[in-house]
Amino acid sequence: MEQLNHENHKGQFGSRFGFMMAAIGSAVGLGNLWGFPYKMGANGGFAFLLLYLVLVVFVGFVIMLTELALGRKTGKGVVGAYESLSKKYAFIGWMEAIAPWLILSFYSMLGGYCIKYALSNLGDLFGASWGIGGMDSGEFFGEFTTNMVQTVIFSLIFVILTVIIVRGGVSGGIEKFSAVAMPALFILLVIVIIRSVTLPGASEGLAFMFKPDWSAFEGTGWIKVLSVAGGQMFFSLSLGMAIMIAYGSYLPKDQNLENSALVIPFADTLVAIMAGLATMPAVFASGFQPGQGPGLLFITLQTVFNSMGGFGPLFGFFFYSLVFIAAITSSIALLEGIAAVAMDKAIEKGKKPNRKKIVTILGISIAITASLVSLDGLGANGFPQFFGQSTWLDAIDLIAEGILMPLGACYCAIVIPTSWVNEEATLNGAQFRTKTFYDFCIKFIAPVMMVMVLLGQMDSFFGLGMFS
Ligand code: TRP
Repeated sequence: MEQLNHENHKGQFGSRFGFMMAAIGSAVGLGNLWGFPYKMGANGGFAFLLLYLVLVVFVGFVIMLTELALGRKTGKGVVGAYESLSKKYAFIGWMEAIAPWLILSFYSMLGGYCIKYALSNLGDLFGASWGIGGMDSGEFFGEFTTNMVQTVIFSLIFVILTVIIVRGGVSGGIEKFSAVAMPALFILLVIVIIRSVTLPGASEGLAFMFKPDWSAFEGTGWIKVLSVAGGQMFFSLSLGMAIMIAYGSYLPKDQNLENSALVIPFADTLVAIMAGLATMPAVFASGFQPGQGPGLLFITLQTVFNSMGGFGPLFGFFFYSLVFIAAITSSIALLEGIAAVAMDKAIEKGKKPNRKKIVTILGISIAITASLVSLDGLGANGFPQFFGQSTWLDAIDLIAEGILMPLGACYCAIVIPTSWVNEEATLNGAQFRTKTFYDFCIKFIAPVMMVMVLLGQMDSFFGLGMFS
């Protein structure tokens, strides 16, 4: 019988497959679907992809391995993990724990939008009155986002679903759900890709994404491209935000860390490219210009589904269901990352942590922030705005993605001893094949890159035009 230690109080993954699906589910989210394809197309196409892959290998992989190792070695969530290193590093942990809490507010709202859109397309499929009914997509979106009662209700449904899954625990909730949801997401994605790339005129979308355009790199342009790619990579791989540390702490000691740190980024990047194949050809085939963010997901793409004829609603339903799955497997990870911190605090006080209670209390706090962000309706309802942004989502994202996340990840590269990572990577006689590479990247490349991302984020959020 395995000895019960502090890890098991919080939970543990039951299988390698389950862990991989949960970790990939955390990484694959809205960032892949609404950010990557557009950023790739607008910043050099294939040239951007090459640069992104280099970053994934030189920075993403090493930070991923570092965070997983820190979690498994300490058996703690992000705050406890940094505290184990030294009390004076606790602030890094708190920075990394606040970011996911902030992100959950708008992530839940957008998850709610996905539910609404999946249902509306389903309604159209049956010619029901609660469908979109041929209404202009921009108008439909505007009507929905300014309908405060509806948006709040859908956001709350999303929060409640997230809470139910996380209350179920690591293996009973998160792992079980992800092991079914992620393969389903993959199948839905393949179906939508097949439809998208066979539409007449689809090749223009492929050209937009894949045509190499080195001119984006000219002059100081490369700095901008590098910071866009770096920021996207951090967000997309869920780095610097508590979760890979928490998931690492639930990973049994007999699992190979180096492999996981390679496979998760690979799968995430694959899905990001596939998301481009699912969306961009359809956008161009319908004669639209690509964009990013909520506008791409909920206005442009819905217009595409409207113009597809009889099967449009079916593909719309598939598509929004897959976006919903991507969003909820990320939101359960965001919530677990914070819950782990609270459970550690209970353990520190000598109590057995009450997961259900902790998750419910955190869920209530998120229900409140998600409702507030939903009321703003992406800036459509005339509320005052902050930090020079035009929506509450952007203002919150500025703090989380623009400041806390790159700072947290930067510290992570600097303060965690490489000997800890080495120890975790070589447990049970495993070979740490990339050790020399890892040591070099974590010391020299990752910190420099993180500073660039920080500057790049500041630049894009405040429109300073430093690099353009
Ligand atoms: N990676 C997710 C996406 O691509 C979003 C995300 C960022 C995230 N940080 C996270 C998810 C931390 C879970 C935990 O959309």
